[in-house]
Amino acid sequence: MDMLVVQGGQPLRGRVTVGGAKNAALPIMAAAIAATGTTILRGVPDLVDVITLSHVLRSLGMTVERCGDGSLQLNAVDERPCLADYELVRRMRASVCVLGPLLSRRRRACVSLPGGCNIGHRPIDLHLKGLRALGAEITIERGYVFAHADRLRGADIYLGGSFGSTVTGTCNVLSAAVLAKGTTTISGAACEPEVVDLGDFLNAMGAKITGLGTPLLQIQGVSELNSVEYTVIPDRIEAATLLIAGAITRGELEVDNLRTSQLAAVIDILRGIGATIDIQGESACVSMSSAPVPIDVTALPYPGIPTDVQAQLTALLTLAQGISVVTDKVFPDRFMHLPEMMRMGANVRREGACGIISGVTHLSGACVMASDLRASAALLLASMAAKGESVIRRIYHLDRGYDHLERKLNSVGAQIRRVTDNADNLPTSLMLSLEDQASPVVDSSDMPPPPKYLLGRSTTRQATFDSSDH
Ligand code: EPU
Repeated sequence: MDMLVVQGGQPLRGRVTVGGAKNAALPIMAAAIAATGTTILRGVPDLVDVITLSHVLRSLGMTVERCGDGSLQLNAVDERPCLADYELVRRMRASVCVLGPLLSRRRRACVSLPGGCNIGHRPIDLHLKGLRALGAEITIERGYVFAHADRLRGADIYLGGSFGSTVTGTCNVLSAAVLAKGTTTISGAACEPEVVDLGDFLNAMGAKITGLGTPLLQIQGVSELNSVEYTVIPDRIEAATLLIAGAITRGELEVDNLRTSQLAAVIDILRGIGATIDIQGESACVSMSSAPVPIDVTALPYPGIPTDVQAQLTALLTLAQGISVVTDKVFPDRFMHLPEMMRMGANVRREGACGIISGVTHLSGACVMASDLRASAALLLASMAAKGESVIRRIYHLDRGYDHLERKLNSVGAQIRRVTDNADNLPTSLMLSLEDQASPVVDSSDMPPPPKYLLGRSTTRQATFDSSDH
């Protein structure tokens, strides 16, 4: 297992390019199950989730090959297997995206339920509701979804839930409905660009979908889908992470290959926080010269601030001049990064679906644990802005969803080393001795006292320092 050792305080300067979107590539790869012939995908990022889904697809009789030019070639050579095994699905919940394509093309699917998740409760009831409406018979037995339909039939389906629509649920129902008999209407569909990208891919294969990017989709079923060559959209979450990296390090960073229209909310909020963002076509140059302005921000379904950027924005706001409130309405429990940020001197606490962040003048490098993909990115951002060295452990989460992020960041001035996670590789600056007890590692003298209403809670910076000082 690897960990990252980060030397903080290096402003990022230069130019980086955003790769293909993980969350578009995964359902598109799964939808290749439903094609006849060889699908060629360009812009599929090189990351662990893609490798995991490739294993799932191979177990389902597909060949999946990364070619010399970087494209991914997929072909269904054996259409008999329909089992997506727990051992693979538990590693990545997006494996559930094979359910819709299997059902529409092979008429049956046996897909493991993914189980628990660090970012909160993630049921798939809406996926199953949509597929049942299309005529699938579905049971859950021994931890697996067993689905069967001789021929799916078009239907009117509503996919809204308590937390909005469902991204992968819309992908599953869409991938099934394209080969159903008759017309399907999906209302309450997810509008995320990754769903649109899947829809564009299916349309390129011969599907008839209209309304993509709106909550109302109409699908006229067809009898067959042809294989095509297709390029996946750039990753808006990677783009947002890079923009925040430029801002949090007070650098000047040009981020290329992004679709600014898909990042409107993120760009707006970053400007509100005090970053300067100049947009030229598919590039955005971010710079920031003063402390962030505190804000009240809510993660919402598209086109709102993505929940996948909530943790990274939180990292930036730990350094704001005042109190910020970050609410997550998509995954209300997605706050496991907060206690780790507190280890770096951040003044944060959780209140239901909100993080309350009282900005500090600086973060202090520390050893922290990543709990999930975006939390890892947030801790990396915080470490790059912190004084001194940090260590980020459990970075396999980061590798699941970012295409060599530390390499990109190092190319523009970051100082991040990937080393094997063991005690020998811990930086000496983070190894305290008995003598260190006398002098605080973090100079808290220039940090403002926590606001009154935070006092007395065990999660405040004051309380944390008090307890460790004695
Ligand atoms: N939900 C239900 N029932 C369902 C499905 C979802 O109640 O049947 C709830 C969820 O519990 C959640 C909300 O609806 O509160 C939204 O969940 P959604 O289904 O949209 O999430 P997802 O499809 O499982 C995708 C991304 C996530 C991203 C979310 C929200 C992929 C592979 N994953 O997950 O990405 O956070 O949409 O935008 O597309 C990430 O990349 O780090 C990541 C977690």
